[in-house]
Amino acid sequence: MWRRPCPACHGGRLDTRLLPPTGDGLAVAGELLRAGRLVAFPTETVYGLGADATTPAAVAGIFAAKQRPADNPLIVHLAAAERMGEVASEVTPLAERLAAAFWPGPLTLVLDARPELPRETTGGLDTVAVRVPDHPVAITLLQVAAVPVAAPSANRSGRPSPTTAGHVLADLGGAIDAVVDGGSCPLGVESTVVDARGEVAVVLREGGVTREDLEQTGTSVAAEGEEAASPGTRHRHYQPSCRVQLAAPGRAAEEAAALAIAGEHVALLAREPAPDGVVEAGRFDDAGELAPMLYGALRDAELAGVDVVVVETVAEEGIGRAVMDRLRRAAD
Ligand code: TXA
Ligand code: MG
Repeated sequence: MWRRPCPACHGGRLDTRLLPPTGDGLAVAGELLRAGRLVAFPTETVYGLGADATTPAAVAGIFAAKQRPADNPLIVHLAAAERMGEVASEVTPLAERLAAAFWPGPLTLVLDARPELPRETTGGLDTVAVRVPDHPVAITLLQVAAVPVAAPSANRSGRPSPTTAGHVLADLGGAIDAVVDGGSCPLGVESTVVDARGEVAVVLREGGVTREDLEQTGTSVAAEGEEAASPGTRHRHYQPSCRVQLAAPGRAAEEAAALAIAGEHVALLAREPAPDGVVEAGRFDDAGELAPMLYGALRDAELAGVDVVVVETVAEEGIGRAVMDRLRRAAD
């Protein structure tokens, strides 16, 4: 991919800047985005890797840095719902209703794309995914940048999503221009992706806005179905370099202990404490507690050099559906 010559480059590597989430830091980040460069930033879900969604060369940089398959479309981030018409050719009544109910927030709406929006952004589709994130740093950055910002999760393709600036640097340091450090992401799992082109909301990816949340607004929600899945859900996803093994509730500690006795180096992410000889990757009571620690715990287990991390499953209700979706893919 062609990239503009960069004075900060060292042998093809960029000097990735860590920017504070202050006025000055965001002014620099906004200018970089307007100049077609790559800036990672925090959202309420996970860190996103941003680029100007209206500039094909900028968007191509995202795919190159992440090593992301070109057919996996990006989510366009906007500072306010009123700007949907800048990227979507038709804002349906369903989209208006869902945006009013859940934005800013972890809901992404798929709509017909304006013809002038680069097909690099939409992964070659005639539809576009849009959302308004619920994070003060993200919103200020989007206002300062003043362009629609395409941003997938800021991990190398296939890896657990990043929930801290450190996770972003671990995967993409040297490959992107800057990271705005806004601390940890409060929600920890990605947005819910909903096809909002018709009258019924079709959930393409489970996420931070639950089915129960959608139904509570009186919206009809289509039954889950493989054929409806987002293009991105086909690819390898959320996987650390160690194995991930799922264990039924109440069984995780004993399974971890058995693996350790068999000679494996094991970590445990569960409701129970880690038995002797097993690394504790984190403890939680329910899916709501597991969500914000999940990706970080997988990355920590990897850094601890374990062979396998055993994760206790959670009930598939509320945010538990998104958590279990990510866990199954991590364990795949
Ligand atoms: O919470 C999030 O959604 C985060 C933050 C940064 O906003 N972003 C994120 O992006 O998770 P990414 O690229 O990791 O996942 C985007 C998902 C993929 O499954 C992709 O296939 C789907 O959204 N998607 C994007 N555009 C689409 C479209 N036009 N039609 C169907 N699915 C689409
Ligand atoms: Mg992702």
